[in-house]
Amino acid sequence: MTDLTGLRLSYTRAELRRSDLNTDPLLQFRTWLDEAIAADLREPYALSLATADASGRPSVRTVLLRGAEEGGLTFYTNYDSRKGRDLAANAQAEVLFHWAELERQVRAYGRVERVSEDESTAYFHARPYQSQLAAHASDPQSAPIPNRGVLEARFADLQARYPQGTPVPRPEYWGGYRVAVSEWEFWQGRRNRMHDRFRYARAGEGWRVDRLMP
Ligand SMILES: Cc1cc2nc3c(=O)[nH]c(=O)nc-3n(C[C@H](O)[C@H](O)[C@H](O)COP(=O)(O)O)c2cc1C
Repeated sequence: MTDLTGLRLSYTRAELRRSDLNTDPLLQFRTWLDEAIAADLREPYALSLATADASGRPSVRTVLLRGAEEGGLTFYTNYDSRKGRDLAANAQAEVLFHWAELERQVRAYGRVERVSEDESTAYFHARPYQSQLAAHASDPQSAPIPNRGVLEARFADLQARYPQGTPVPRPEYWGGYRVAVSEWEFWQGRRNRMHDRFRYARAGEGWRVDRLMP
């Protein structure tokens, strides 16, 4: 394998000052996400979602951000998946965005709740037909299966049961979660590993902003 110890970049693209920050971290996040989308990054709305089970065992995976509103950050998944089981036992999560080309990282921590059934249903039907079938085929998500054929056969059965053009019902075990963010951190890489970091923490109705050691 390549010797990794000699591989490193210097981060020189930008700096982040307190005066650059929006007083509302959600708006700050939206600005950075829009900049990542405008920069044509590949799936800049993909995030790492860290959860932990009741014993504290962590687990992390990628999901797609489907909304960033006052109420929180929304993603969709199978409620019976490993992440779903973690969240049922321990309803908190931290999420991470890394936009390498922009030398930026955002982390957000908060309590997690399911979105309403109506909202999940509306989003389910906005997804492509094949994705709707796949949500049915992949259940319970994260369970072992003997081979890929099992999955393909399920998909074919579902195509026959719900031909394209007919409505596919949303499985009751599939839907959204929302992370109600109570702590944000915005990180901008700088030269010599002297990075800029700002953390927003809830303080009453507003936010306290601290600069953190890099
Ligand atoms: C780029 C990317 C996007 C993904 N988006 C989702 C998603 O939005 N929802 C989802 O359930 N899984 C998504 N996955 C798959 C998850 O990373 C994961 O494999 C799956 O949800 C099972 O995770 P779990 O066993 O920890 O519950 C995505 C994977 C990648 C690489």
